[in-house]
Amino acid sequence: MSALAEIPARLSGDMRAGSLRREDLEAFEGLLSQHGRGALLVTGAGDGPLALSTGLASAGATRGMRTALLYLANILGASAGSILTGFVLTERLSLTALGIGAGDEVVVPANTFIATAAAVVRAGATPRFADVSDTTLLVTPGTLAEAITPRTRAVIVVHLFGQVPDMTGLLAVAGQAGIAVIEDAAQAHGAEWCGNRAGSFGAAACFSFYPGKNLGAFGDAGAVVTSRPELADRIRSLANHGRSHGASHYDHDCIGTNSRLDTLQAILLSGKLARLDAWTERRIALAFRYRSLLADAGFSAAELKLTDVAPQARHVYHLFVVRIARRDSVRAELSRRGIQTGVHYPVPCHLQPPLRRFANGPLPAAEQAAGELLSLPMFPHLTDGQVDVVCEALCDALRATMISSELVNVR
Ligand SMILES: Cc1ncc(COP(=O)(O)O)c(C=O)c1O
Repeated sequence: MSALAEIPARLSGDMRAGSLRREDLEAFEGLLSQHGRGALLVTGAGDGPLALSTGLASAGATRGMRTALLYLANILGASAGSILTGFVLTERLSLTALGIGAGDEVVVPANTFIATAAAVVRAGATPRFADVSDTTLLVTPGTLAEAITPRTRAVIVVHLFGQVPDMTGLLAVAGQAGIAVIEDAAQAHGAEWCGNRAGSFGAAACFSFYPGKNLGAFGDAGAVVTSRPELADRIRSLANHGRSHGASHYDHDCIGTNSRLDTLQAILLSGKLARLDAWTERRIALAFRYRSLLADAGFSAAELKLTDVAPQARHVYHLFVVRIARRDSVRAELSRRGIQTGVHYPVPCHLQPPLRRFANGPLPAAEQAAGELLSLPMFPHLTDGQVDVVCEALCDALRATMISSELVNVR
């Protein structure tokens, strides 16, 4: 039976605007604990779900949707949260809700999907690009510190590929500079740093439920999680045509937009949630298999490099990424054998045409990585045998490209 189907009828039938009863909340909490909420939650639910349901009710959500969203907010570790649609909007609205806009700078890592930096531009602010670690490909306390200027108001920390960067160091640097931290957790549902979940570190954290993500809807969807109720209220209002919290349908206190999650996606997501932890464990096991097979293959670091995982991190492997100097020919060889791979990302953000005007100096680690990164097949339904086939094909392709480049050198 799906998790949603198990939600008691009394609970889903009684959640009208602002009328969620304490016993309903407790029943819901009981339901969540049966579904391993303890394993997924970072912060307690507290009064958060009540705030959430009230906000969503004023956003015109149906009962079924509110039930599904409560479920989501709990799983994502929110003590108060706001569930929205459209990831670019979730980041942009978080920035706007924090009062960040024209004249302000926001640091983003150079190696990320363009949406992270686009959100800054759409909020009216200026992106400043930070280089990434050569070994983890994530922003570091050092690269963040280098990118901060007196105009910097925030940093969007990206948990790229499913790994949370050194949040201890990043929060210390951000705290010292007095800037806000927003998490881009689009690829990191359930990832951890020092036992704390992605989504629990920043003023706000933005999740994507795009179909290909670790938790994917059947269409576009996203969520903001925050433990600051006033920020949740502001984001909900911005996402709902600027409607004031708890006021009538036609009271607006700011110019907002429509960025609401639709009911169908919410229900589908909540149905998939019960499986998320098992799928994550499977991704981790597959990555372990890739790592041991590729390490045993005996290539030098100049030929094949794996990315590092910090001991404090629980990497949830949205992507399994390796680095290969002759990436494009190896990729073509794999494709010839019917193995589809990806490149995340071929062009660092500061070199993308619409963002070049913001480029702040060369960022050598991100630029070099862009020419070498290769994402191997990674999804929970991949079999061990398929990983073996991919590794064998990759090793053959590496050897074949090594031989052909030696021949070119001899000529
Ligand atoms: C790191 C990162 N940030 C933001 C996004 C944007 O998410 P969405 O597609 O839900 O707008 C993505 C999606 O690919 C992403 O990978």
